[in-house]
Amino acid sequence: MILKENILVGIISYKIRDKDHVYIGGLIIKPEFQKQGLGKQVMEKLLEELKDYKELDLVVHPENFSAIKLYKSLGFIEKSRLENHYGDGEPRLLLVLER
Ligand SMILES: CC(C)(COP(=O)(O)OP(=O)(O)OC[C@H]1O[C@@H](n2cnc3c(N)ncnc32)[C@H](O)[C@@H]1OP(=O)(O)O)[C@@H](O)C(=O)NCCC(=O)NCCS
Repeated sequence: MILKENILVGIISYKIRDKDHVYIGGLIIKPEFQKQGLGKQVMEKLLEELKDYKELDLVVHPENFSAIKLYKSLGFIEKSRLENHYGDGEPRLLLVLER
């Protein structure tokens, strides 16, 4: 849960895969709170909290341009394209941050 002044503005989740690797499962900022820098702040905080993990990854739809721009601004790079990743007939991009 992402709270701002005690108001729920979004959610983020992640899963620790092993001692080096974390999968970031989802970042959602409620529409009325988007484009205020919150998504970036939350990701920066999470990356700091997870600083001991060497590899972080996530998947994103290739047309989710603002999300891709946000992740790339934090150092994520595109590793591969996954066709029909969630079984919805749509591709996803695998983005990875290695450090
Ligand atoms: C993707 C998502 C998480 C981004 O969250 P956000 O809080 O809007 O992100 P930010 O505000 O940090 O940055 C987004 C944009 O707002 C801009 N921005 C940041 N602060 C701003 C401000 N004070 N005024 C105007 N614009 C601002 C950023 O420059 C950025 O613009 P860009 O996309 O053109 O580069 C959000 O759009 C979302 O929840 N989308 C739906 C769910 C989703 O697709 N999640 C990702 C799944 S992988």
